Amino acid sequence: QKTIQQLKEKMEQGLLPQWVITDPDIYQLEVEKIFGKTWQFLAHETELKEPGSYVTRWIVNDPILLVKNKEGKIKAFLNSCSHRGVQLCTADRGNKKTFTCPYHGWSYNLEGDLIGIVAGNKVYGEEMCKTEWRLREIPQVASYQGMIFGNLDPNAEPLDDYLGEMKWYFDLMLGRGDGGMEVRGVPQRWVAKANWKSTAENFAADPYHVQTTHRSTVEMGISPEDPLYAGYGHQVVMKNGHGINVITSATGKARVPFQGMPEEMWPMFEKNLTPEQLDIQSRVTVFVGGAYPNLSFVSPIHGTEGHLHNYLNFRLWRPIGPDHVEVWCWFMIDKAAPEEYKEAAYRGYLGSFGPSGTLEQDDTETWARIVESSKGLMARDKELSYNSVSNYLMGLTNVEPDESFPGPGTAYPTCYTDALSRRLHENWLELISKDLYVKEEV
Ligand code: FES
Ligand code: FE
Repeated sequence: QKTIQQLKEKMEQGLLPQWVITDPDIYQLEVEKIFGKTWQFLAHETELKEPGSYVTRWIVNDPILLVKNKEGKIKAFLNSCSHRGVQLCTADRGNKKTFTCPYHGWSYNLEGDLIGIVAGNKVYGEEMCKTEWRLREIPQVASYQGMIFGNLDPNAEPLDDYLGEMKWYFDLMLGRGDGGMEVRGVPQRWVAKANWKSTAENFAADPYHVQTTHRSTVEMGISPEDPLYAGYGHQVVMKNGHGINVITSATGKARVPFQGMPEEMWPMFEKNLTPEQLDIQSRVTVFVGGAYPNLSFVSPIHGTEGHLHNYLNFRLWRPIGPDHVEVWCWFMIDKAAPEEYKEAAYRGYLGSFGPSGTLEQDDTETWARIVESSKGLMARDKELSYNSVSNYLMGLTNVEPDESFPGPGTAYPTCYTDALSRRLHENWLELISKDLYVKEEV
């Protein structure tokens, strides 16, 4: 309790002790109290096209089997056989009518019903009741703008309420074109040495790193020399720790209309977006942000004048311990875009993000170094580290919200502020300390 109180006081001053990043006890609390209770992104609906389509995913350590049933409804099961618990489906994706366990051959249909037992009645007798041994369903599954989420907590607030104001920005990014977005290719995934809090914060809340970490883009002439260039625009802080940066050019206006999407698509965007959303579109160069806790997104402009491309990259930071994440990275593009535009944008994405991306490699290096320097005695000693803390002071006393911003949330008139980072860590502390001491009293 004393530690939590001390953490709260530090955070109010814009400080965060470094040991919390990789502390194993803190990590266990995060798994149970954050990942066990918040909505977790599983897939985009275009990954499950036909009845029988399936993908396998994870909510931290829980294997998930996501299938489209005969009625076209998405079902999510624990991907674990009800006989001895073997991981039932080991493929990443595919299409099946039934799932058969590789261990003793029990099989299940798309509804998760146990429909076949090898040697059935001969070994279990007539009394064996198959309905008791169906696959376990994930307690809550819901989707918004094609984004399918699951929640391991049956009592968690509905997805709509959890996303709250963020839905407005999802409408803007995912719902601007007729038919919405589609996933192109498969989600790339790889393991990085990093803590999930650092990766989520980097994407959601830290445009300040761009001019240094990604300095090579300035040297190549792709990004401006101006050290403030990723700071123009607004950082928006929302309920539950969601947030977005609307990065503009130095004039506060967009570099090109609709981030370089083909001109023939503009009337469609104008039809589907509200005047306030169009106002933001008239300013934005890059959207970058996150839905708490571990889903991030970036919608950039790539390419050279005359050949500019825009796309949407969603990424999930799946924690696999306090010092590693499995990164899942989806490329999404407007379904209505011309095929050659989609392909060119996809190639631009592969050169920038994902394991082959230059920007990705810049970031990965810094995340690994945070982990490494958080394990030393001075960083990990809880008493010492109250004096050696990370700095979240940017904008704490010198930046006020801009009431004239047309979108929901609390908008600050710069993206170089730690306002959202502070909100992320406050949210983090609120969640991990919830009900923590009730148990002890009992
Ligand atoms: Fe699946 Fe035995 S563990 S059939
Ligand atoms: Fe970066």
